[in-house]
Amino acid sequence: MTTNTVDDRTPDQPADERERTAERLLRSTAARAYDPELDIDWSAPIAPDAPFMKLERCSLYGTETWRRLTEEQRMTLARHEAASVASVGLWFEHILIRMLAKMAYNGDPTTARVRYALAEIAEECRHSTMFARMIGWMGVPAYRVRPHIHRLGALLPFLARNEVIWGATLLGEEIPDRLQREMVEDGCIQPLMLMVNRIHIMEEARHISFAREELARAVARTPRWLRPIQRLLLAHIAFIISRSLINPEVYRSVGLDPRKTRRIALANPNYQRTLRWASEKLVALFDEHGLIAHPGRHWWKAGYLIR
Ligand SMILES: [Fe+2]
Ligand SMILES: [Fe+2]
Repeated sequence: MTTNTVDDRTPDQPADERERTAERLLRSTAARAYDPELDIDWSAPIAPDAPFMKLERCSLYGTETWRRLTEEQRMTLARHEAASVASVGLWFEHILIRMLAKMAYNGDPTTARVRYALAEIAEECRHSTMFARMIGWMGVPAYRVRPHIHRLGALLPFLARNEVIWGATLLGEEIPDRLQREMVEDGCIQPLMLMVNRIHIMEEARHISFAREELARAVARTPRWLRPIQRLLLAHIAFIISRSLINPEVYRSVGLDPRKTRRIALANPNYQRTLRWASEKLVALFDEHGLIAHPGRHWWKAGYLIR
């Protein structure tokens, strides 16, 4: 059965163990999945006083520029920053869909692992639809990543192998997940966005646990000579995600110059703390696997993901 398929197991990783995880996640997917087209009331009006994200997580929060903004401008900026983060999430989901499709393409279609990859693709397609509708509902632009980042993103599914696939997946999933969890716990944002976040958190929990297990296996089978290259690639992806979350064009919404204001945001200790906080769990995991080290450590620091 395996003659024409890619079997990347190591001898100490029995097929049963991987299959058991995938079967468990498939059962969970079948039991609890949402269809955002049906499960979210897109005709709901915008709640007049609720912010679109926690204001404390805004890139300018705590700066002199923030103090000069009126309350209304702060709410507007939060709305645009939330749309920017959602747009980046949506962009990354497209990349992830293609990486999962590559895994399914190379794998044995009869395995639970490949069937789970297909189930995850289906979920990510629904998430992208959900975020696209949410951005439309918010009445703001879908902020895109910069053109060269967009092109690099299209290349990633071709370049990524093993731990880069799963490391990149976790970078794209765990950072937004932490921000969304905080918003759900806090409960003070727009009710429709609370629902979007709840759905996403629940379904991403499966994706994250799948990716974490796959990452551990991938790390174990990466040849020593390849590790520095993999670490460097992951560090670059981490840096790009960190820098892309807030598109500088959002500052125009409150009459600020994008380039100048971006510099202020990046120098803002509060925003740097937010980035480190959002990536804290992921950084701990990557550290455990020895993935944050020379060469590449510099990019993690430059992205304000570690000190
Ligand atoms: Fe997703
Ligand atoms: Fe996901």
